[in-house]
Amino acid sequence: TESERTDRITAALGELGDDVIILGHNYQRREIVEHADFIGDSYELSKRAAESDASYVVFAGVTFMAESADIITDPDQTVLLPSMEASCPMAGMAEALQVDAAWEQIENATDNRNIIPVTYMNSYADLKAFCAEQGGLVCTSSNASDAFNWAFERGDAVLFLPDKFLGRNTAAELGYDVDSPAGTDAVAEWDPWDPAGPDASDVSDAEIILWDGYCQVHERFRVNHIKSIRESHDANVVVHPECRRDVVRAADVVGSTSQICDTIANAEPGETWAIGTEVHLANHLQRWHPDVEVVPLCGDACMDCNAMRQIDPNYLTWLLESLADGEVHNAVEVAPQERDRAATALDRMLEL
Ligand code: 13P
Ligand code: SF4
Repeated sequence: TESERTDRITAALGELGDDVIILGHNYQRREIVEHADFIGDSYELSKRAAESDASYVVFAGVTFMAESADIITDPDQTVLLPSMEASCPMAGMAEALQVDAAWEQIENATDNRNIIPVTYMNSYADLKAFCAEQGGLVCTSSNASDAFNWAFERGDAVLFLPDKFLGRNTAAELGYDVDSPAGTDAVAEWDPWDPAGPDASDVSDAEIILWDGYCQVHERFRVNHIKSIRESHDANVVVHPECRRDVVRAADVVGSTSQICDTIANAEPGETWAIGTEVHLANHLQRWHPDVEVVPLCGDACMDCNAMRQIDPNYLTWLLESLADGEVHNAVEVAPQERDRAATALDRMLEL
């Protein structure tokens, strides 16, 4: 039962003491975040890991987050992931090998202009390392426009990976016309999946080139979800910038998971807010702020992240009990040859 499991986790944590901290991403289920020392977005949690002296950092999140924590923690700290199956599909849409192979094509297609690659935090360490090597950096959903500006100070164009929707929303924030029917040639997509090969002419004049990746949770939100929640609940709407452009335009507020949390924390009692992101965060926000009415934007159509759901509370119990018995499982270790370069890409972001 849940209470037996809670007792077992509490007993294991009692034995481990300060040797372990548990970090819970905002999208984890209640039974996980209730045991977390810190709850937050991927970037905040990595910083918490770096600030901690614990020998073991249990990261209840997905692989790319655990990798980033491993990169920014001390070498004598070990980052553990309760399930090795917890891999973000969007991060897998821009494999470093594939991007490396496309790089020359993109340079040729853009007439060898100086392209700076910018990768979203939601990517694997080898892609972060590749970006550093090519003069680029990492960004999160809350600092993407600063990262683009950083890149424009150093090059002629940005290749943004993997999330085309975050890239398009950032381009709009920077003043590019991505909304009119004719659009602009300055923002173009690079489709690495096209069997005929990407059309080089599409990107020849582009200042922002968007790799064709996306989050399959956020991509499912539609403007009609917003229309119907406004009709049924007279709700304000906050969405994550991984949502489609038209959904972001129709919302009242757009922001990262932390910014979504802040929006609800600052809402007036009695207000209704619809949350356009992974459903577990909407549920947490309702529990944390009972004086605000919080509803998932998708209603009953459950938008949960399959990768985050891999972190089953039974795995957390197993991991902690094993650790208390002196057995270390599921350590996430970035290969040394990638670690330093990926750290450079992360440091460039931290300096923004
Ligand atoms: P955050 O960086 O806001 O934690 O979001 C991560 C994520 O996976 C969004 O889908
Ligand atoms: Fe990846 Fe989307 Fe899940 Fe975030 S919600 S971890 S981007 S699949």
